[in-house]
Amino acid sequence: MDNKQSLTYWKNKAESNPTIKASKVSDINDFSDYDKDFILKYADKNTTILDLAAGTGITLNKYYDRVGHVTAVEKFSQFSDFIVKASNVAVINSDIVDFVPDSKYDLILMFGVTHYFNREESVFLYRKYKEFLNNKGKLIIKHQFGVNEDVTVEGYSEELKCNYYSQYRYIDSEITLLKNIGFKTVDCIDIYPKECNRWENTHFYAIVASV
Ligand SMILES: C[S@@+](CC[C@H](N)C(=O)[O-])C[C@H]1O[C@@H](n2cnc3c(N)ncnc32)[C@H](O)[C@@H]1O
Repeated sequence: MDNKQSLTYWKNKAESNPTIKASKVSDINDFSDYDKDFILKYADKNTTILDLAAGTGITLNKYYDRVGHVTAVEKFSQFSDFIVKASNVAVINSDIVDFVPDSKYDLILMFGVTHYFNREESVFLYRKYKEFLNNKGKLIIKHQFGVNEDVTVEGYSEELKCNYYSQYRYIDSEITLLKNIGFKTVDCIDIYPKECNRWENTHFYAIVASV
């Protein structure tokens, strides 16, 4: 399971005296203000949200007071300890592969998540969580995708000075995959300013998939 390789990286980070910025791979990748603004385009005071792999809540803490209710699922409590304590926020420390929601949601967020899973593992997550969307609910997936083809980073990273796994799948194939899973509409949004995209072969997109 390729997510296991990613989890080694995240476990080490969680156990290394994290700050609220720890759920970003590097400080220059903190686009949480853009993420918050984007999420709020799809949410209001009545919206129920499932925020999967919510990390330190660096984005959640910026949007929670403008939505109905948020359930945040994060594997590592050392990260989720930074999530705001509020009456409309529930935090669950669980692996998102194993977690079983007890209700359905208007919005399910996977921000910076499914590139830490290979294609087969991601299909499992997309299929599983599609069943927990309300009528007219939306799944939003945001991370870097391959521009012309799959780009898989695996093994030792000179930049990070440790082992790292990430699969930036070809954006067109991810959209096709979501349509094949049964999402009725799948929109692809170029979410950030151009300069946030550091690499030629990958690009940040938000995919909004509706049931
Ligand atoms: C790049 S951070 C994204 C955090 C947050 N969604 C955001 O956008 O700021 C990736 C997060 O995924 C979590 N993660 C990775 N695999 C996971 C799994 N199988 N179950 C739960 N959390 C996982 C990591 O612990 C980390 O907090």
